[in-house]
Amino acid sequence: MTHNKMIPVVAIDGPSASGKGTVAQRVAKALGFHYLDSGALYRLVALKSLQEDIEIADEAKLAEIAANLNVAFENDEIFLDNCRVTDEIRTEECGVVASKLASYHRVRESLVARQRAFRKSPGLVADGRDMGSVIFPDAVLKVFLTASAEIRAQRRYKQLMEKGINANIKVLLEDIRVRDDRDSNRSVAPLQKSMDARLLDTTSLSILQAQNCVLEWYKASCANRRV
Ligand code: DC
Repeated sequence: MTHNKMIPVVAIDGPSASGKGTVAQRVAKALGFHYLDSGALYRLVALKSLQEDIEIADEAKLAEIAANLNVAFENDEIFLDNCRVTDEIRTEECGVVASKLASYHRVRESLVARQRAFRKSPGLVADGRDMGSVIFPDAVLKVFLTASAEIRAQRRYKQLMEKGINANIKVLLEDIRVRDDRDSNRSVAPLQKSMDARLLDTTSLSILQAQNCVLEWYKASCANRRV
């Protein structure tokens, strides 16, 4: 397992459709760091469970799927069992199933080492729900990125429309609220802003402003570490 404490990690956690993925990807690019979309792993387990008709109550089987996922991340594309699933995992159905199975301790455990293996030189930007609290507790910078539920629903709607996926904004808003509630109130690794994370509310910020803010914070945390 690649787990080198010297390699810097920027952890960006936050709720569904907060824009953390876009911001994290851009920050990774600007710093020349690797990028981990941990939500994609939960979505991949969801997709595989749907393909294999696994009951959502079957924690043992879902954990087994998570432990044995045959996935590849290549540039911006994601492959499951050698098939391109980049867009397929983004559907609301996969998101809802991912949110449900993510509440299982054994599923989460099965994905820990896989996530930590993304920590490679020169650094990593990781986005998810528990990047700063569980997976990379020693991250040099922890950001809790959020926005109002209404703005997140609008952003998700736009994203889906651009991909040609049909959506209804009221249904999306309700899904976001239900998912927030489930992700925040589960007993294992709940979505919460940890004490050592900095809050970034992007409700009235552009992607560029949010990205620049994270980059400034990262520079400041590096400078602080040097003194
Ligand atoms: O970030 P996302 O919406 O693609 O994530 C899909 C689901 O996966 C989300 O509802 C909760 C779960 N998840 C998690 O529990 N922990 C993570 N680190 C990332 C995602």
